[in-house]
Amino acid sequence: MLINNETIIKDDNELIRRKSADVSLPVSDEDRALLMDMLKYVDNSTVPEIAEKENLRPAVGISAIQVGVPKKMTAIIIKDEDGNKTCEYALVNPKIISNSVEKACLESGEGCLSVADAHEGFVYRSARVKVKAYDILQEKEILIKADGYLAIVLQHELDHFKGILFYDHINRKDPFHKEANAQIIE
Ligand code: NI
Repeated sequence: MLINNETIIKDDNELIRRKSADVSLPVSDEDRALLMDMLKYVDNSTVPEIAEKENLRPAVGISAIQVGVPKKMTAIIIKDEDGNKTCEYALVNPKIISNSVEKACLESGEGCLSVADAHEGFVYRSARVKVKAYDILQEKEILIKADGYLAIVLQHELDHFKGILFYDHINRKDPFHKEANAQIIE
């Protein structure tokens, strides 16, 4: 599937609010191909020469509903400043099995491939999550124990399965409200 900034569904399309369904296992060739295309999008999106040429907006994650497929699949790649991957997942049916009471948010707020406009404000999420999923890169069921940035990214992507966008979590009256005991991640 061609995935670029033209084909990615934006929040003016009601499909972005649709709930995603479980993927049947074993993963079909069709689902696998789509998930690998999503992963490739994320990987290429942070390589400036490719991103410019192919009209890709930089991202660390994408979920299938963002390309119009309401299935629980998400691809995540986080890179360090030198462009080396610090984590890479192509997840089928990821599910949060536990989350911390402690909250965290990104100091700079969040962004999303499906959201063109800036929505400033803190998006509080759990500081730590445990996620169970089938990862097609490892070809097995895995348990991800995430904190910090990865925990935020996982919760952002899994929200897409419920039709929730990051700005739904922003306090409208006080977007930069400081919650007691919450981590602010730089
Ligand atoms: Ni998003």
